[in-house]
Amino acid sequence: MTAAANPGFTPRIFSGIQPSGGLTLGNYLGALKRFVEKQDEGIETIYCLVDLHAITVWQDPAKLRHATREAAAGFIAAGIDPARSILFNQSQVGAHAELGWVLNCVARLGWMNRMTQFKDKAGKNSEAASLGLYAYPSLMAADILLYHATMVPVGEDQKQHVELTRDIAAKFNHDYGVSFFPAPAPVIEGAATRVMSLRDGTKKMSKSDPSDASRINLTDSADMIAAKIRKAKTDAEPMPEHLAGLKDRAEAKNLVNIYAALAGRTPAAVVHEFAGKGFGAFKPALVDLAVAKLGPISVEMGRLMADPAEIDRILGQGAERADAIARPILERTFEIVGMVRSR
Ligand code: TYM
Repeated sequence: MTAAANPGFTPRIFSGIQPSGGLTLGNYLGALKRFVEKQDEGIETIYCLVDLHAITVWQDPAKLRHATREAAAGFIAAGIDPARSILFNQSQVGAHAELGWVLNCVARLGWMNRMTQFKDKAGKNSEAASLGLYAYPSLMAADILLYHATMVPVGEDQKQHVELTRDIAAKFNHDYGVSFFPAPAPVIEGAATRVMSLRDGTKKMSKSDPSDASRINLTDSADMIAAKIRKAKTDAEPMPEHLAGLKDRAEAKNLVNIYAALAGRTPAAVVHEFAGKGFGAFKPALVDLAVAKLGPISVEMGRLMADPAEIDRILGQGAERADAIARPILERTFEIVGMVRSR
């Protein structure tokens, strides 16, 4: 599935991250690090801090504002250049909510009912979940389609939402007899598309996990990173000779994947290098690598956060650039669906 499946549309990358807490190593390896790589591939890149999505679950207002600025600092510290990529927060571009509404009227309840993230997040008491949480995937479709984006780099957990976006785009095109929206492709690549908890290899690493030891935060100091990796759950077996030997060893496999993604190598090469050694030998190597790669990001984030006005300026400028692309596409959408536009 590539942009070639969208003839007539300029290749364009869009992706987003919720500022509902700090960024984790999962966000970094599954998304942010790859956003930076895409920036160098000569394709237009648009990255969004999706604050409207964040409030689908209640957020403390002061913490949300802080987390949005901190996430922006994380993007820049990790290598997003606001001059080359568009970096902004969603609520500053009103067209997201406006297109979101139109797409709420295209998406079907049956489709939303199949979304596993809603089921996970709403839990057993789904009657008490917000209407926004339910409509979350159609706002995400709006984020992507508003820019006629053709490629969406995400971690594995977002694949279903990007596929839903394709369904929504196809239904819109069909219902109105147009070829207006492209079919954006999820781009899920690399060794760490699903980083797992450091405490439980069956659970995804997540900013909402109550245990801070389960994740590495991009703001963690070198000492914290080292302590969390040293304490990470593993097993008593040595590294196998081949990758296949990690099949039923979720925690061990997770650490190998993290190492591979941080080093820009394949998991098979990492297994080969450490074959026969215990995790007592592997972990210090992982600590050194993680501290070398992540330490400077956390330091740079701290530096950037000392000047929140500059971060706000960057987000404001990004929002203006995003709006200039989004507004005409939204206007055309309104025309297609039959709204009178007289001013
Ligand atoms: P969010 O904020 O949960 O996560 C942001 C990105 O990080 C990836 N990710 C992971 N990748 C690997 N391992 C993990 N443990 C891990 N945890 C998170 C996610 O897959 C994602 O790519 N719905 C989206 C935000 C969104 C969006 C969009 C994304 C809103 N609109 C439009 C793309 C395009 C979300 O909740 O991501």
